[in-house]
Amino acid sequence: MKVVNLFVASTYDKKEIHTEVEPDLVIYNANELISMNTKYGAPRTGDEKSKLAIVNDGAIAVKDDRIIFVGTTEELMSKFEFGKISTKIDASNRLVTPGFVDPHTHIIFDGARENELTMKLEGRSYIEILKAGGGILKTVRDTRNASLEKLVENGRKILNRMMAHGTTTCEVKSGYGLSTESEIKILRAIKILNESHPIDLVSTFLGAHAIPIEFENRPDDYVKMIVNDMLPKIAKEGLAEFCDVFCEEGIFTIKQTRKIINKAKRYGLKPQLHIDEIVDTNGAMLASEIKAIQGGHLLKSNQEGLKAMANEGVIATLLPGTPFCLMLNYYAPARKMIDLGVPIALATDLNPNCWTESIQMIITLACYKMKLTPAEALTATTINSACALQRQDEIGSLEIGKKADLLVFDVPNHNFLPYHFGVNLVSKVIKNGMIVIDND
Ligand code: NIG
Ligand code: FE
Repeated sequence: MKVVNLFVASTYDKKEIHTEVEPDLVIYNANELISMNTKYGAPRTGDEKSKLAIVNDGAIAVKDDRIIFVGTTEELMSKFEFGKISTKIDASNRLVTPGFVDPHTHIIFDGARENELTMKLEGRSYIEILKAGGGILKTVRDTRNASLEKLVENGRKILNRMMAHGTTTCEVKSGYGLSTESEIKILRAIKILNESHPIDLVSTFLGAHAIPIEFENRPDDYVKMIVNDMLPKIAKEGLAEFCDVFCEEGIFTIKQTRKIINKAKRYGLKPQLHIDEIVDTNGAMLASEIKAIQGGHLLKSNQEGLKAMANEGVIATLLPGTPFCLMLNYYAPARKMIDLGVPIALATDLNPNCWTESIQMIITLACYKMKLTPAEALTATTINSACALQRQDEIGSLEIGKKADLLVFDVPNHNFLPYHFGVNLVSKVIKNGMIVIDND
């Protein structure tokens, strides 16, 4: 076997690595290869968001499930015996990026809520629909009645569509069970899918997603059940890495949220929150106080809270699909967050109220509705969303030693991702070094 010198592209520091391996897959001639090199920070904040570390005429080499070279096509050709490589992908006039990381989803549920669109058109709010037994509570009824097998089958269909649209890692929350048995059923479905689907899943316990009907008017009793019954059982079976709470007026209070998160931490679960979606309950401040890894929504967060998040490095996971589906005329103040130095990630929030598998759609909404630049939106769906799941050492950028999760798009540059919208621009998805989607 020939000994080769591998180094990252000349556009950034040359870090020489000696290795004896030869690639089994290469991509070359990429018009733009977005490395998203972590030397520019992980997560990125402020101005750094636009430092994509673009390699023009870029190339990448993969051995097994790892990236072994990133550079120009010329460098690639001089390093390896091109003729011997078994899989060669010509990316002429195309864009190559890290695989998308979707850090906030609720994909395990049964049934759907397409009928709520008409209610929303009639002017009924999200909380009104929920209080009338619709919304989350409707999905809870359907999900409680579904078998584990049915939930796995539903989840698999969703994951297949996510992968076809470029997602290679995603977080998945429970939260449509709201009883110990049903929450565990959902978390087991997530585990089965993680073990059997190419997409890597990160599991989150969200028993505090709504007050179930049998605890109506006794929310503290439900909180007691979460901390005394659900959390110990879930921790014992090792079913969740994170714990989340829907902290919102009329759902879970700041005090209840603290109680759940403090107990979850004692069981080794890492904290994250749904905050300030409908009302400013000072959720952003709470997120910084409990040292949440990420906080989702933040449509109404106040400036002090956002500053505190910036200081603690809590990632703001913005979910523009949700205000879009709620027909709101306002979105999270992303530009203000960037100015304050809050690191931003983007996610689909896929759930029966906001059902899209497509991070490309979210990038479009982020640019047109929250005024992110295409570069910022791409940063927020790759390296920053990897940070939101504490996976930045493994995924989120194209660098030597990282997992070979990458996308080839049938567009010449990253500005096309939000611009050419409503269709799937993915040409190939490579997951763990294998081509799992090929649209060519
Ligand atoms: O993040 N806001 C709370 N939970 C989900 C929605 C769940 C649902 O409507 O089914 C969200 O938007
Ligand atoms: Fe959510």
